[in-house]
Amino acid sequence: MHRINEQIAAIGIVPVIKLTNPERDAVPLAKALCAGGVAVAEVTFRAAGAERAIRLMKEACPDMLVGAGTVTTTGHIDKALAAGGQFIVTPGFDPELVAYAKEKGVPIYPGCTTPTDYHAALKFGLEVIKFFPAEQSGGLAKIKAMSAPFPQFKVMPTGGISLGNLEAYSACPCICACGGSYMVTAELIENGRWEEITQLCRRSREIVEGARKGMAV
Ligand code: 3PG
Repeated sequence: MHRINEQIAAIGIVPVIKLTNPERDAVPLAKALCAGGVAVAEVTFRAAGAERAIRLMKEACPDMLVGAGTVTTTGHIDKALAAGGQFIVTPGFDPELVAYAKEKGVPIYPGCTTPTDYHAALKFGLEVIKFFPAEQSGGLAKIKAMSAPFPQFKVMPTGGISLGNLEAYSACPCICACGGSYMVTAELIENGRWEEITQLCRRSREIVEGARKGMAV
């Protein structure tokens, strides 16, 4: 696996972040995630200032993996890379974006939920795909069904992940990490509840590690 894919898989969780005030929140948030053992973040481009947030997080926590989410244009990829972004996440499968990311040498995780999407990902030789929106698209049962004909992929479900279902998802061998916003909600960030974010990250890591120890097919 690509080094960054391995690092994400080792952590097992990817916080999906929407920052409205990066100058105020990016640095304490990055520190709170790292303190909770989750040194990774997907900073979504649906919020203005994503580029700035990526830059600030990388400056404050250079060892943290910071990527860009909700990427829908090649311009977003350029901005993410210029800011120090290390991976790209897209809501759906856009061959132009996948080709562009590959050309730039940055890992890309496109949203895939159908056999047709998986075929497309196969053509591009991707190792990791996002499964989005996970719960609404059939959840774990569909991910397992898709891994039968497509065992080569590691899957990153995102959408509807919570402390309540994290264990079940993480116990599935084809799942490398779960994305989610439950540990970085707008309410937690707006109110600067950094310690709570750290605790949610710690708890999530415990759940992932516990699930992997008793990993079932
Ligand atoms: C998103 O794009 O917002 C992510 O999929 C996060 O989904 P969640 O808020 O259900 O975790």
